[in-house]
Amino acid sequence: MNTEQIVRTIVEYFEERGHRRITGSTLLPPPGDPVLFTTSGMHPLIPYLEGRPHPLGRRLVNLQRCLRTTDLEEVGDANHLTVFEMLGTWSLGDYDGSMSLDWGYRLLTEGLGIDPGLLHATVYGGDDRVGPDTASLRLWQDRGVPVELTVEDNWWSNGPVGPCGPDSEIFLWSGETPPESTPTRDDRWVEVWNHVMMRHRRLEDGSLVPLPQRNVDTGLGLERLASLLQGTSSVFECDVFDPWRRLVPTLWPTDEPSRRLLYDHLRSAVVVLGDEVRPANTGRGYVLRRLVRRVLTVLWRDDPSRSLGDLPDELISHTLDHFRQEVESGDVRRLLLQEERRFSQLLERGRKVLARPRFQGPLGDEDFHYLHDTHGLPRDLVMSLRQE
Ligand code: SER
Repeated sequence: MNTEQIVRTIVEYFEERGHRRITGSTLLPPPGDPVLFTTSGMHPLIPYLEGRPHPLGRRLVNLQRCLRTTDLEEVGDANHLTVFEMLGTWSLGDYDGSMSLDWGYRLLTEGLGIDPGLLHATVYGGDDRVGPDTASLRLWQDRGVPVELTVEDNWWSNGPVGPCGPDSEIFLWSGETPPESTPTRDDRWVEVWNHVMMRHRRLEDGSLVPLPQRNVDTGLGLERLASLLQGTSSVFECDVFDPWRRLVPTLWPTDEPSRRLLYDHLRSAVVVLGDEVRPANTGRGYVLRRLVRRVLTVLWRDDPSRSLGDLPDELISHTLDHFRQEVESGDVRRLLLQEERRFSQLLERGRKVLARPRFQGPLGDEDFHYLHDTHGLPRDLVMSLRQE
């Protein structure tokens, strides 16, 4: 099953059960939201989880593109992408968590053909403030799915304040051997679907109050599920990356971790540009700038004559099409090249400045400020130039 078929199967399953599909899934959060990018499927739904009526009703389904920079250092492992897609379903004060888990279980096993023996669940075990999630525990026991109880790992929140609640996560075994151990002890158990019983709100003082309605919020990482269903060992092997694996290694031969970084960051940069963010020294534009600079650092480490101008058009247009973005691929390429030129000039200037006697010894905060404010050289760039 390719990702398109997975999306269709899941969306139709929930539509048949009264869910309406939300359209539009930009990475840019609504105005006034302090977060730079949409980080999960539920993110744009926070006001509705807090009680505002949603125009499409109480049962919703969506495919949301998300960007998580907290995982930037983890890029290159088998399961983390900077930009990824999350399938989400919501009960806004409608059905309960057990119904949601039961549908999830049936969809994975009957709809997508996963062997039930390869599933493991985790459930909130309770602490002194919120009791154990016995309804979810019972559901999994009835289905014969093994359960591990945890406290912190099964409490979902989007930040220190706001809607939160206990969750039940569904894991799929990715090992070559028969399943063993439990999700917290063996990372061959890969999390595929999180069902959050979003019933609480955490206030500034740390206390919990009930939300006006009992919601269920679920999120399923599309590329991760696709790679498991396609029997591949990492998200970079799933069908989404087919054209990247076909074209990039011959164009820019490099080692496997660098290849993964190139796929992830370039694809993410195209999507961010596709949502009309432009490179800048602050905010969203700086996240984009860092992605492009990390790509160039890897490319130039192996061969300084490489240029993003050689990036095949197919990779840009395939990505824009996949994310249903209207931007022209030529414009994306032009912006990438502009950024490449700017970075190359900055490096040249940086090398000259750092060659001065003043910067030969250890650098203090004052030096870093001067290099940043007068020469536009950020600290991380100075560090990497000094290691050349
Ligand atoms: N809020 C949960 C998550 O992001 C489910 O949507 O994983």
